[in-house]
Amino acid sequence: MATARQKLIPKEKERKKKQKVSEAQIAVHWKEENYYRPPARFVGKANLHDPDFVEKFSEKNFPECFRHYAELLDWDQYWHTTLDTEQPPFWKWFVGGKLNACYNCVDRHLAKYKNKAALIFVPEPEGEAAAVITYQELYKRVNEVAAMLTGFAGLKAGDRVTIHMPMIPELPITMLACARIGVVHSVVFGGFSGEACGLRAADSGSRVLIYTDGYWRNGKWVDHKAAADIAVQTAKKEGQDIDKVLVWKRYGTRYSSETPMVMERDYFIDDVLKDYRGHTTEPVSQDAEAPLFLMYTSGTTGKPKGCQHRTGGYLAYVTGTAKYYQDIQAEDVYWCMADIGWITGHSYIVYGPLALGASSVLYEGVPQFPDVGRPWRIAERLGVNIFHTSPTAIRMLRKAGADEPKKYSYRFKHMTTVGEPIEPEVWQWYHEVVGKGEAVIVDTWWQTETGGFLCSTKPALDPMKPGSAGPPVLGIYPIIWDEEGNEVKAGSNVAGNICIRNPWPGIMQTIWGDPARFVSQYYKKYNKHPHSKDWRDWPYYAADGAVLAADGYYRILGRVDDVINVAGHRLGTKEVESACLTLPEVAEAAVVPAVDEVKGRVPVVYISLKPGFLPKKAIQDKVISTVETMIGKIARPKTIHIVPDMPKTRSGKIMRRVLAAISNRMDTGDITTLANPDIVEQIRELVQGRAVLPVQEGPEDIKRFGQEP
Ligand code: WTA
Repeated sequence: MATARQKLIPKEKERKKKQKVSEAQIAVHWKEENYYRPPARFVGKANLHDPDFVEKFSEKNFPECFRHYAELLDWDQYWHTTLDTEQPPFWKWFVGGKLNACYNCVDRHLAKYKNKAALIFVPEPEGEAAAVITYQELYKRVNEVAAMLTGFAGLKAGDRVTIHMPMIPELPITMLACARIGVVHSVVFGGFSGEACGLRAADSGSRVLIYTDGYWRNGKWVDHKAAADIAVQTAKKEGQDIDKVLVWKRYGTRYSSETPMVMERDYFIDDVLKDYRGHTTEPVSQDAEAPLFLMYTSGTTGKPKGCQHRTGGYLAYVTGTAKYYQDIQAEDVYWCMADIGWITGHSYIVYGPLALGASSVLYEGVPQFPDVGRPWRIAERLGVNIFHTSPTAIRMLRKAGADEPKKYSYRFKHMTTVGEPIEPEVWQWYHEVVGKGEAVIVDTWWQTETGGFLCSTKPALDPMKPGSAGPPVLGIYPIIWDEEGNEVKAGSNVAGNICIRNPWPGIMQTIWGDPARFVSQYYKKYNKHPHSKDWRDWPYYAADGAVLAADGYYRILGRVDDVINVAGHRLGTKEVESACLTLPEVAEAAVVPAVDEVKGRVPVVYISLKPGFLPKKAIQDKVISTVETMIGKIARPKTIHIVPDMPKTRSGKIMRRVLAAISNRMDTGDITTLANPDIVEQIRELVQGRAVLPVQEGPEDIKRFGQEP
């Protein structure tokens, strides 16, 4: 449709229209790639093959269309209202319904799949054998842990628990045990520091922390328990007492951490569990709207926010999208290489796949250990046929071992990419070499806040287009607006802010403890009628830039706020800046993204010093170690520039856009409005050297970085 309309616009008219583009709209110049058709072998067997089913999700059938997802679950009590819009934008889904998420992921599969692998754990050391946990075994272990959490830890429905654990089976077991008794879990990515964990634990009001003694990462043993003591101290500083730290041992009977256990606070779970052997715990029937978990993510302020996800809507949404977009079927072996500590792992390693009775692979380590053939050896050994990873991992595997996949005889039917835009040439390598030209690829765009996919091709029905996330998924109706709220049309080659016009069951309920911020961050921007109870007045603002091609495919350009996507992980620049500012030497700090060949973007730090301090390497080292301690290694800045002053507006605001342009050798744009324009050349010389390097055309997210909203 859009194509036809585009053709009707005379060239001259179109040119004029483009000239009127506001500053926030940025013209994009890339060419659209060619289509790839899904292989016939895939199409014949796909879960989503029926165009009539797609039609059921058209806007005229909203919101009832989402019954088709909810009906994939077992409910204790059926819902009476699919969508309640009484208190926008605090939507309620499947109101009146009752269910238990753990029951849906475990118990209900026993009748048919008792002996089927639920989780296949692959330890990082290649000499350690993979461990298979069947649905029966998972049922037993989850029941015992749930009994222990209820009995020993005294937890009950509605309480929050913070879980700071790496990729070992005890992590999903603990999450499911929480879900079984209605305890809201908050999993903190294992790579975050103890301080980062403590802040999140305090924010969520957790009294109990769950840890592991240690784990393997890139061939090194990480003594993880050390972080627990810091987490407890940090939480205490924030006013939250931690009563118990429950510690799993990576090697069952052997404690493998140097950190002493603290009497009457720290307990080995394996020891306590002895009292709960063989115990069963009834799954607590939860309201569909009861919170299932919190997932903290970076936003535009220094403090990460707890995205609160609901039980019924979330589980229905991830189950539906895992079934139709991941195409998980009974005989498949599914491997998502993400970490459970991020939303991808929650939705598409644990809840979605297990609700479908899948066999889900859990890999402890990094893909390049001991060499870049590792993922393909795992795939070959376990017979993985559905593979799910990020562009950063794909870039790294391609760079370090472009021919490696050819040495192994695995066969993927389906592959996913998630988390960042993927360059067409990287996509092509994924398709031809990793997928051996036989696998269908879905590029899934979504966010921690959204619970599950928002844009993706329907694997058997839509052609793939490298670099493009594709059309919206079932029941999602997006729109792109410019800053003034004018619609940016399909095929205009102009970027704008992508929004979702309608609510959907996977969207977060609220920000834990901060409902006002939930409204202001995601809904205020394009809401014209704050008192309206009509969902049409409450579009969801995703804070991503996007362009819509004439064929209805969305290409996501990246964040338009102060968030940098580093290796597919969200990093709030304000979080890093706050960490820098804790140093007594630092007067001002600004963090900007720089393009990186493998990680997509990396943080670069600019600091100016307080009077009396001289620029020294020791200060740079201190900045790095402070960022690592306060946030974690993933936030480690690539470079620290100590500058004499920051480029500032007359009102004293640091112009991060100018620094981002310098770090990426892009045009710094208009700097005449600065209070100190001369500083720009000084900083440029400091960063790039004396020679004047040619400027280059940078990516859209960096062009817009730090612009006033
Ligand atoms: C980015 C990860 C391009 C986007 C599931 C979004 C993507 C942020 C894609 C969310 C994709 C995610 N193509 N960009 N397929 N998927 N993003 O919350 O900028 O960790 O806003 O959720 O990642 O990151 P988050």
